[in-house]
Amino acid sequence: MLGIIGAMDIEVESLKALLTNKTEESISGIDFCVGDLGNEKAVVAKCGIGKVFSAICTEAMILKYKPDMIINIGVAGCLDETLDIGDVVIADSVVQHDMDISPLGDPVGMLSDINIVKIPTNVEMKNKLIEAVKAVGINYSVGVIASGDQFVASDDKKNYIKTNFDAKACEMEGGSIGHVCYVNNVPFTVIRAMSDKANGGATMDFPTFTKIAARNSTNVIKKFVGILEE
Ligand code: ADE
Repeated sequence: MLGIIGAMDIEVESLKALLTNKTEESISGIDFCVGDLGNEKAVVAKCGIGKVFSAICTEAMILKYKPDMIINIGVAGCLDETLDIGDVVIADSVVQHDMDISPLGDPVGMLSDINIVKIPTNVEMKNKLIEAVKAVGINYSVGVIASGDQFVASDDKKNYIKTNFDAKACEMEGGSIGHVCYVNNVPFTVIRAMSDKANGGATMDFPTFTKIAARNSTNVIKKFVGILEE
């Protein structure tokens, strides 16, 4: 079974609509839709915005549905100047940019106990997503995706994340979803389409660009599961 998590309705609603033989169940306030998605059995959920909601959703999904793999999809702020609105970043690792115990000697971003800053994503899933993005014809980049409980909308914050983590995109869930998958030994990956430049600048039309970006990220997943013919 494939688990798919997005933070907002717009990021998952078209995939939920494509599920056949659908059943639905609510756990901890999150609706989990289970059914057939192309070649795969899938469970799709909107987790809500931020690291805590996404962690609750991921843990519940793993314990209840035992997915073989989890993909986090959706939109993100762009930190890679070679990319534009609608382009895609596929994560080779995820980091939590607001995790900081550096006053006690840890590197910035270090997750205590598991002692990792960047959690690697599953290589086979990443490669399959790269093939899907290429087939859909969307411009893309592969690299670090950074998560934190804040909407990044200033050059200062953007530069902090780029400098410390060499990240290509920032969002608010991929790092925590990866963290939960890591401690449960569940393969995961994150794919995000760019909705804004993370600087609060003139290019900021979040509702319009989010629609374009969300459609691009769901199209890649449709290709991934074999239901987008082109
Ligand atoms: N999701 C989309 N754009 C974002 C941004 N600039 N910061 C955090 N999360 C985002």
